[in-house]
Amino acid sequence: MKIGFASDHAAVALKDSVKAHLAERGFECVDFGAYEPTEQDNYPERGLAVAEALVRGEIDKGVIVCGTGIGISLAANKVPGIRAAVCGDTYTARLSVEHNNANILAMGARVVAPEYANDIADAFFDARFEGGRHAVRVGMIADIEKKYSKVPGDA
Ligand code: RB5
Repeated sequence: MKIGFASDHAAVALKDSVKAHLAERGFECVDFGAYEPTEQDNYPERGLAVAEALVRGEIDKGVIVCGTGIGISLAANKVPGIRAAVCGDTYTARLSVEHNNANILAMGARVVAPEYANDIADAFFDARFEGGRHAVRVGMIADIEKKYSKVPGDA
């Protein structure tokens, strides 16, 4: 599995440590920055980079991190087909995949300690979508995306 990583300036260290952990586990890792903790980074651009790579099929899953995990996940979730889940505990991380078929894990570098972030990532990447009734509900989310997506040129 190929995992894309991104963070803003507030979360470079956590992004790098989770990436190192998952690389150690054998996952292929692609880094979309930020690479330095400068103040020039904007979380929407970083979240978008991973989200677009995922819907283009260049990566299979994503890990995105900002100060809280909120801003970068809000940005990624604007891309149809993205289900980015902000997780601060292992239970939520597991259920976000089993029930919600989350394809991006978001975390807050100012919220979770690095060691626990690795546990959260393990819970996320070890989980499998259960399908069934959950697939129906995830399909309803996709219907909302379709309802509010406009194709250029449409009235
Ligand atoms: C940056 O200061 C901070 O606003 C950002 O990392 C994130 O927490 C936003 O949601």
